[in-house]
Amino acid sequence: MTAELASIIDFIRYGASRFSAAGLTFGHSHDNPIDEATHLVLASLHLPPDIPPAYGAGRLTVAERASVLELIERRVTERQPVAYLVGETWFAGLKFKSDRRALVPRSPIAELIESGFAPWLDDRQIERALDLCTGSGCIGIALAEYNPDWQVDIADISAEALTLARENIAFQHVEGRVEAIQSDLFAALQGCRYDLIVANPPYVTEDEYAALPGEYRHEPKLGLTSGADGLDLCLRLLAEAGDHLTDDGLLIVEVGESEHALAALLPTVPFVWIEFKVGAMGVFALERRELIEHAAAIRHAAAARRAA
Ligand SMILES: C[S@@+](CC[C@H](N)C(=O)[O-])C[C@H]1O[C@@H](n2cnc3c(N)ncnc32)[C@H](O)[C@@H]1O
Repeated sequence: MTAELASIIDFIRYGASRFSAAGLTFGHSHDNPIDEATHLVLASLHLPPDIPPAYGAGRLTVAERASVLELIERRVTERQPVAYLVGETWFAGLKFKSDRRALVPRSPIAELIESGFAPWLDDRQIERALDLCTGSGCIGIALAEYNPDWQVDIADISAEALTLARENIAFQHVEGRVEAIQSDLFAALQGCRYDLIVANPPYVTEDEYAALPGEYRHEPKLGLTSGADGLDLCLRLLAEAGDHLTDDGLLIVEVGESEHALAALLPTVPFVWIEFKVGAMGVFALERRELIEHAAAIRHAAAARRAA
C-alpha cells in the first residue's frame, strides 16, 4: 500500500476514507474526516495547517509514509483524538501542545477572543483577566496573546493539567503576563479581583458521559462531568464569582447543552446567551452587578445542591 500512496494529498484522502469507513466521531478539533486527516498528516510531517495547496503534491519519504500510516491506524483502532496523537492542536489561530493531561481545546470562546469580545468589552478597561478551569491553558494564553497589555491568571484544580498549561505558557512565550495557579475554583484566589473572568468548566451530565463515544474516554473525566445535570461546578462558580470581579466586571461561562437546565434552575437571572457565527453555543455573559442582584437565588440553588 505504501507504494500506492505517495503524496500529501494521497495520505489525507486515504486517512479521511479510513476514518469515515470506521465511523469515527469528530467532536474534538474538527467536525469532518477530511479536516481530521489533514490535521493528522500535516502535523505529523511538521507542516503548518495553511501550506499553499501546491505542496499537497509533495511526496513523502519511506519513513514518513510508515509513521503517517501508523498514526492513521492508531486513530482508527485506539480512537484517540488526533490532537493527542500528534501532540498539538490549534485554538484561536494559535498552536498549543495537547495531550492526555487536559482536554483537547475546542471551546467556542475562541471566536470571542478573536473578535475582541465585541460588543461585550467595548467600553471596558481590562487590566486583569482570569481563565478559570483552564485545562491546557488555551483560553487564558490566547487572551494574553490577543491583548498584550492584560495580566492573565489561569487556574485549574488539576496539577497535571497545569503542567501542560505551564508548557504552553513557555511555548507561546507569555511568561510574565500569564500566571498558572492550582485552585479549586476561587479557593486559592482569595483577595484577587478581575475585570473579566472567562470559564469553560466541566458541564457534561452523568447520562451524557455514559453515552459519549470512545474518543472522549481518552480525556480526563474531571474536565468533562459535573454532577447529574452538569451544573454542580457552574453553580458554585456563579455563587463565588461576584467576590472576584471588579465593580464593572464581566463573567463569561460556557455550559454547552446544560444551558436549558441552568435557565430553568435560575429563571430570574438575566443570562445573556451569546450568538456565535453558527448560532447559540451555550455560552452566557453576566455582569457583576447582576450576580450581586441575584446572589440570594444563586446561593440558594448552590446550597440546595451541596445539601442533597
Ligand atoms: C471543560 S475543561 C476546560 C479546559 C479548557 N479551559 C478548554 O477550554 O479547553 C474543564 C477544566 O476544569 C477543571 N476543573 C474541574 N473541576 C475544577 C475545580 N473544582 N476547580 C478548578 N478547575 C476545575 C478540569 O481539570 C478541566 O481542566
